[in-house]
Order: sequence, then structure tokens, then C-alpha cells
Amino acid sequence: MKVAESGQGMAAAAHRYTGGLWLVTGAAGFIGSNIVETLLRDGQRVRALDNFATGFRHNIEAVKAAVGPDAAQRLEFVEGDIRDRGACVAVMEGVAHVSHQAGLGSVPRSLADPLTTNDVNVGGFLNVMEAARRAGVQSFVYAASSSTYGDEPNLPKVEHRIGDPLSPYAVSKLVNEIYARNYKRCYGFRATGLRYFNVFGPRQDPDGAYAAVIPKWTAAMLVDREITINGDGKTSRDFCFVANAVEANIRAALASEEGQGEVYNVAVGHRTTLNELFGLLKDELSRLQVHYSRAPQHAEFRAGDVRHSQADISKARELLGYDPQFDVKAGLRLAMPWYVAQARCR
Ligand SMILES: NC(=O)c1ccc[n+]([C@@H]2O[C@H](COP(=O)([O-])OP(=O)(O)OC[C@H]3O[C@@H](n4cnc5c(N)ncnc54)[C@H](O)[C@@H]3O)[C@@H](O)[C@H]2O)c1
Repeated sequence: MKVAESGQGMAAAAHRYTGGLWLVTGAAGFIGSNIVETLLRDGQRVRALDNFATGFRHNIEAVKAAVGPDAAQRLEFVEGDIRDRGACVAVMEGVAHVSHQAGLGSVPRSLADPLTTNDVNVGGFLNVMEAARRAGVQSFVYAASSSTYGDEPNLPKVEHRIGDPLSPYAVSKLVNEIYARNYKRCYGFRATGLRYFNVFGPRQDPDGAYAAVIPKWTAAMLVDREITINGDGKTSRDFCFVANAVEANIRAALASEEGQGEVYNVAVGHRTTLNELFGLLKDELSRLQVHYSRAPQHAEFRAGDVRHSQADISKARELLGYDPQFDVKAGLRLAMPWYVAQARCR
């Protein structure tokens, strides 16, 4: 696997952009802000929507600073909520490509508050897709999730074989896919779903009850706090560096008609156990002179979590030309300096 020097800007690999305006929802969040950054670096015009439910103004500022003042002029930020139909219609004006990333992530959050997860992830999704259909956009790509595999036991996960959802969050993401299929059937509208598998990288929030494992553990290790592994540590995930996910988004948006209106796994195709991840994080930190010597604590398995996750990415390879450039180690190497810098800013 090739390791580029930086995760950012790698998507500049000769995409045939149409020149049309991009709308990125959830742009103040982790994945959305990385998509915006790459699009701006690639010379695109971007409208960005967010209500800061879990995203941050400082992510937008960081993107502007990273791309520089000229490229930042091509970014228009709109504060708005996807549960507001009128806001979705208004923001769609003149848009060619929609990258819909707004949503409430986290299985535990959905178990604690299934109603809000449904309002945003299902109601909000439908508002955005319906506004996009009526506006006649050229492409519509949305954030789906590997949680859709639910209790399907086989590995690797292939797109057409799914089980029963294990959480309200997984239900919400499955409903998105069902609506997308239905829009293709009823209206000929091609919405493309990207089933992300544990994406990680710069600007992923390390704080709060619903933080993902990599930023959460790294933040704790940087201040020499104990970390907790849910279960025996043999739970595994196909950790995907964010630049791979950004690349998949751009490829899906610019795909031929045949490639659009499908669902794709977006991952690397390998799996790493939580115990292995802990070791990798320790190694990467020690390269940066942060030496962590505590042993991890083990707690109960978490409700709603799947035991193992590993993607078959051949469909995305074939139909989108998706070729992830960063494995988990390469991604951690690129992400780690960002985590260290964040910790120093606190
Ligand atoms: N990070 C992952 O590993 C992963 C895995 C599978 C799926 N996903 C999905 O990818 C998408 C992006 O995830 P992320 O990790 O960047 O999370 P994130 O929380 O960093 O980003 C989500 C963004 O959506 C915004 N948002 C939430 N509710 C909104 C609303 N009602 N109106 C407008 N904006 C709203 C938030 O403020 C935030 O900026 C989500 O839909 C998530 O479910 C992420």
C-alpha cells in the first residue's frame, strides 16, 4: 500500500470535475470538513451546511486556514438544520453535487435517545434527498454505515448480505438505504450510499460520551489517563483513514450512471482488534516521544456493538475505481501529530 506524505490533497488525483457547485451537509463535522477541504484544494466551489449539533465552528475555520484565503473564498457556509424542510430547499439552489454527511452518529447515543436520532438521520435525510431530487442535482452521495450489517455473522461483509440492525442508529442508516432504493424505483433518482467502517483522522472529536475509540484513547494516552477496552479486546474493526473516505465520496459523486444509485462499503478491507489498536497507538505515540506505560482496563461489552467488522471493498473498486491509499498504520501516522497538537491546545 502506497503511503502518501499527507492525507490531504491526495484526492487531487485527476478527478474529472464538472465545475458545478457542491453542497456538503455536516460540513462542520469530522468527515464533512475533510471533504470540504479536499474539494476546495481541488479548486471546487462549495456550499456547506451545519447546525453545530456535534460539529464545530473551529473546524470550518481550520479548513479555511488550511486551504488559504483564495480557496476559502470559494466556500459559502450556511448555518441550518436538516430537520427544517425550508432550509433544505433553500440550500439546494444551484447545487450540482450533494455530499450528505449531516447526521447523529454513535450507537450509544441512539440507544439513549432514539427519537432525535430518527428525526435527524431519517427525517433530515429525507428532507435533504427530496430537496435534491426536486432541484434536479447531478449526483447525490450520502453517509451510510457498516452498522447496517447488524447481526449478519459472515466476514468479510458484502453489500448485498445484511442482517437485522442492532441499534436505533443502525435502523436509521438502513432506512436511508431503503429510501434511496425506493427513490430510484419511484423517481429514477440515483442516491449513492457509502457504508463507512470506523473512519478516523484529523478533526474527529475526542471528547464527550459518544467519542469514537481512536480519538478517545489517544486523548487519554496523551495525558497519561487510563483507557478502557469494552469486552476482551478481540472485537475487531476495519479502521479507515478519512482520506480514503473523502476519495470514495468524490469518486461516487463523479461516477458514471452505472456506478450511481448503489451502496458501497468504504473501508480498507483489513481488520484490527482493539488489543492490536492499543498497541499501534502506543507505538505511534512513542515515535512522537509520548511513552504510555499503563495497562488497559477491561469493561463489559457495549450494548448494540457488532463483534467483528471487515469489509469486502471489491464493489467500490470495480464500479468507482476506489483504491484506498492508507491502511490503519499509515492513517495513524498521519493523524497522530494532529491529536498531539490538539492536546497541547487544551
Ligand atoms: N465516523 C465514522 O466512523 C462513521 C461511520 C459510519 C457512518 N458515519 C456517518 O457519517 C456521517 C458523518 O459522521 P462524522 O463522523 O463526521 O460525525 P460528526 O458528528 O463529526 O459530523 C456530523 C455533522 O452533522 C452535523 N449535524 C448533526 N445534526 C444536524 C442537523 N440536524 N442539521 C445539520 N447538521 C447536523 C453535526 O453538527 C456535525 O457537524 C454521519 O452521518 C455518520 O452517521 C460515520
